Amino acid sequence: MQGSANLNLMIKAARKAGRSLVKDFREVENLQVSAKGPGDFVSRADREAERIIKEELRGARPSYGWLGEETGEEAGEDPTRRWIVDPLDGTTNFLHGLPHWAVSIALEHKGEIVSAVVFDAAKDELYWAEKGSGAFMNEMRLRVSGRNRMIESIFATGVPFGGRSTLPATLQDLARLMPVCAGVRRFGAASLDLAYVAAGKYEGYWERGIKAWDMAAGLLLVKEAGGFVGPVREGRDIFETGSVIAANGELFEPLCKVLRAE
Ligand code: IPD
Ligand code: CA
Repeated sequence: MQGSANLNLMIKAARKAGRSLVKDFREVENLQVSAKGPGDFVSRADREAERIIKEELRGARPSYGWLGEETGEEAGEDPTRRWIVDPLDGTTNFLHGLPHWAVSIALEHKGEIVSAVVFDAAKDELYWAEKGSGAFMNEMRLRVSGRNRMIESIFATGVPFGGRSTLPATLQDLARLMPVCAGVRRFGAASLDLAYVAAGKYEGYWERGIKAWDMAAGLLLVKEAGGFVGPVREGRDIFETGSVIAANGELFEPLCKVLRAE
């Protein structure tokens, strides 16, 4: 694996956190969780993973800023660079013993994501990319799919839960898209949804109301695999709105057309 020093650092941190999470995941699977219940056990696993990643990354690059799901935002001496980290994306899957979750780490430089790692530790699949150098899964180069007909294509999304305000719009998206495609998947980890678009497994993905740490790394994977990314509402910022569309080059516009229809 030939990457920059920063990428190698991100991979080391993701693997270390991944090992800790796999150990905890085995306990969830065996139901050997604390007396306080699985929810509490999983949030401890999540926090421990972020602690490991932060120790590795901030230890090696103390001047970089930080944005992590568990510990929030911290400015660094270098205002141009920051790590964007989701230590455990797919928490609900993890909690239910479903092996579909990942560690997601991105490096932002001057407002642009330049390096990305999404590590599916349960399957030992490491997705990584650097700006201008392509996207990979382990040693394999990734390309978005070449399908160009909506009716033969599969799309992924996240369906809002727990009364989130984005539910009605997402249901409307599904009502519009499902009749014109081959299926919609909801696997429960945005970072892996984007990695799968990069790997050509899904033709596209969209979601409303997610956070920067859910998608920062995945967006670079898609772009470096030859795909396109954009906001759900034309002209808006993806990170500000938290709403994103990603797809192969053939189907990006057709997918936008369906999702942006009034
Ligand atoms: C969630 C997952 C899910 C997406 C949610 C995210 P978490 O992240 O990525 O697929 O639909 O919007 O919040 O909470 O498991 O880290
Ligand atoms: Ca997440």
